[in-house]
Amino acid sequence: MYNFRFSVPTTIYFGKGQISHLSELADFGSKVLLVYGGGSIKRNGIYDTALKILEDAGVTVTELSGVEPNPRIETVRRGVELCKEQKLDMVLAIGGGSAIDCAKVVAAGAMYDGDAWDLVLDPSKIKKALPIFSVLTLAATGSEMDCFAVISDMTKNEKWGTGADVLKPTMSVLDPTYTFSVSRKQTAAGTADMMSHTFENYFTKEPGCDVQARFAEGLLKTMIKYGPVALEDPENYDARANLMWAASHAINGLIANGSQPAWCVHPMEHELSAFYDITHGQGLAILTPAWMDFVLQKDPSTAANFAEYGRNVWGISETEDEKAAREAIAKTRTFLFETMGLPENLCAVGIDSEEHFEVMAEKAAKGSVGCFVPLTKEDIVKIYKAAF
Ligand code: NZQ
Ligand code: ZN
Repeated sequence: MYNFRFSVPTTIYFGKGQISHLSELADFGSKVLLVYGGGSIKRNGIYDTALKILEDAGVTVTELSGVEPNPRIETVRRGVELCKEQKLDMVLAIGGGSAIDCAKVVAAGAMYDGDAWDLVLDPSKIKKALPIFSVLTLAATGSEMDCFAVISDMTKNEKWGTGADVLKPTMSVLDPTYTFSVSRKQTAAGTADMMSHTFENYFTKEPGCDVQARFAEGLLKTMIKYGPVALEDPENYDARANLMWAASHAINGLIANGSQPAWCVHPMEHELSAFYDITHGQGLAILTPAWMDFVLQKDPSTAANFAEYGRNVWGISETEDEKAAREAIAKTRTFLFETMGLPENLCAVGIDSEEHFEVMAEKAAKGSVGCFVPLTKEDIVKIYKAAF
């Protein structure tokens, strides 16, 4: 296990009615930028509730609305301008990962002299940020408790993740009832995303990280138990609560620190989103089993890892690693595509040609250096083709 520093300074208020704690924003200033997406927060009433609490606390609100799923740099720039022009004190995102990610880079951009895209391309330029707050409405990305933000420039087909300690939210409100209105599609995609975060951290060649591995298996079992429940019974509180809390821990450093894995399925998916603007979790679901098949074949020593996953997460009793590994991958495939109803291949999300595979693979290969099984550009093209 490598040395590491674990620091999550985000205060979490978890549970029904915890939005009342937005009144604490008054301790950080009197002017907030409220960042949200296409209007789901107005339809489910969270917007009105938040505005009333902020008003009562004496905090005035400037709005940045219309943040896109796969948030765009143009929207970030609008937010930075508002913060600078109006000398705003802090940012509050209400929504899923897209609203939160956008708010994070706005918060950093407000304290940076150049263009906000610099901060996406080069995380070392993120030195300061306005205080960041979030009210999470979709369990998936873990952005509510992590240091990352993912922003796209669709004019260049670029989507990159950036990250810095100062991007960790000061406070996040996690009220599972706010996710009752999440659609089947986004519930399934969110579950695939949090599972992928767990896989990216769990599949590592670093020995001796038992605590991290057992936490990861617990998270996966929770996601596998409750994803289907949330799909069939969207207002099941325990299902929504467990998914929400599991998603936060899949990416906040708890299961990554010590083994320091580089991620590889995410860089491949980010290229799909950058070129085709697809839903992140759907792209991950499509790529994950194809990636598992590929790395098991490329590096047979990974059979031990996949077999351990199969036995500890799926209860597979097969004693031969190679067979147990194949069973585990088959279980994963069935869960994602049949139980959760996620799209099975790239054609199913509207990607009907292989024309960009080479250039996407070249970029993804750069982003996944040091991962579980190193992948070349040619390997990634093969994975895209297998998923096609
Ligand atoms: O825009 P609104 O109207 O709010 O609707 C959203 C959006 O259409 C809707 N939604 C959210 N909460 C809802 C709801 N609809 C009904 N009821 C609710 N309670 O769901 C749609 C998707 O929202 P979005 O925020 O885009 O989804 P998600 O949370 O999956 O975020 C995806 C983005 O996060 C990035 C992804 O790449 C993608 O850009 N990621 C961020 C990470 C991070 N910060 O650590 C890591 C991830 O790996 C990921 O890359
Ligand atoms: Zn993700």
